Amino acid sequence: MKIIIINGPNLNLLGKREPEIYGSQTFEDYYNQLKAEFPAVELAYFQSNIEGELIDKIQEVGFSYDGIILNAAAYTHTSVGIADAVKAITTPVIEVHISNTFAREEFRHHSFISPNVKGIIIGFGMKSYALALQSFL
Ligand code: DQA
Repeated sequence: MKIIIINGPNLNLLGKREPEIYGSQTFEDYYNQLKAEFPAVELAYFQSNIEGELIDKIQEVGFSYDGIILNAAAYTHTSVGIADAVKAITTPVIEVHISNTFAREEFRHHSFISPNVKGIIIGFGMKSYALALQSFL
């Protein structure tokens, strides 16, 4: 089973960025943990701070992979382009968020992406990614 995690802007700073919200683990460290926890999954990872690069990656993998775990970060709340890309592809997408966006500022309560995804996992810290992986299995 081929699954890719796609992370959006500022998630390259996990470990350093607002640790009271996002924790103190780097994503690279967590990703190695995930690979060890799910050895049967062919796991890939892509991160970009650039909206168009995220859209390019979604298009590239979106007709051949078995699943996409997408944390579009701030673009969740702004990007019609990413929402359209998710709608255009055939690979199922699970939207994840590390923090509980509904317990935060109101602008984080709306997601352009949610209507086009298979499911949403929000607020379980880094574990949100493991729960998404589990649901694909
Ligand atoms: C986030 C929540 C977003 O509102 C925020 O812009 C992020 C991270 C999360 O994983 O909790 O960058 O997607």
